[in-house]
Amino acid sequence: KTIRPLLAGNWKMNGTRASLDQIKAIADGVKAPLSEKIDTLLCPPATLLYVATALCDDSPLAIGAQDCHQQVSGAHTGDISAEMIADCFGTHVIVGHSERRRNHAESDMLVRAKAQAAHDAGLIAIVCIGETAYERNSGQTLEVLKRELVGSIPDDSTAQTTVIAYEPVWAIGTGVVPTQENVEEAHAFIRAELIERFGKEGANMRILYGGSVSGANARDLLDVPHVNGVLVGGQSLKAVDFLAIYAAF
Ligand code: G3H
Repeated sequence: KTIRPLLAGNWKMNGTRASLDQIKAIADGVKAPLSEKIDTLLCPPATLLYVATALCDDSPLAIGAQDCHQQVSGAHTGDISAEMIADCFGTHVIVGHSERRRNHAESDMLVRAKAQAAHDAGLIAIVCIGETAYERNSGQTLEVLKRELVGSIPDDSTAQTTVIAYEPVWAIGTGVVPTQENVEEAHAFIRAELIERFGKEGANMRILYGGSVSGANARDLLDVPHVNGVLVGGQSLKAVDFLAIYAAF
C-alpha cells in the first residue's frame, strides 16, 4: 500500500486580510483529479485561521495552525490551544518547528506535550525535526534526528494522527537544498526509527521534507524514497508558487 502524500504550506508570520485572495486561489486550484491522490494543507497565521477555513469550505485544501500550547486552557497570555484550532475548523497543527525550538527555546519534551495536546483535540500533529549546519558538519545528523524523534513524538502516535517533517535547519529559507542522497539517508533513517517504535503505524506515517522547496525542485525531492510530501515556507505564500509545487506531485 502506498502512502498518500501531503503538500503542506507554512506561512509563518506572514499574511493579513490582504492575503485572503491567495488562500482562495490556492483553495480553488487544489482540485481533481490530483486532489484525489494527494492531501493539501495550508497553515496561515492564527489571526487568519477562522476566516481561512470558511474560505476553504468547498475545497479539499485543509487549514492548520503553526503551533499550539500544550495545555487545554488557562493563564497563558498570547498562546492558543489545540482545542481553539479545532474550534476554528483547523485540522492540523505544526509543532516543534526549528524556529519555535530556537526562538522560544522549545525542548523535545515540550514539543511532545504539544503534539499530545493536538492528538487529544483531534488534530493531526506535524512534528518537525532536523539538524543545524553545525550538527551536520560535526557528523551528528542521525544522532540529532534520533534524539528529536524519541523525545518529540507521543507514544499514542499513529499514521492517521502524526506526520513527521524533516527540515534541515540550514536548508530553511536559504535556497540551499540538500542532495537527494542527503535527503534519502535522513528519510530512510527516520523510517527505520518509526518502524522500530511504532511497527505498522510507523511504516505508514508520512515523512515530509522541508527546506527551500519550490516548483523547480519538488519533483526531484518527491522522487526520493520515503519522501511522502513536502512542507513549504516561502513558496507557499503565493498561489502561483504553491500550485506549481502541487503540479509537481
Ligand atoms: O515550514 C517550512 C519550512 O521551514 C521551510 O521554509 O520553504 O521557506 O525554506 P522555506
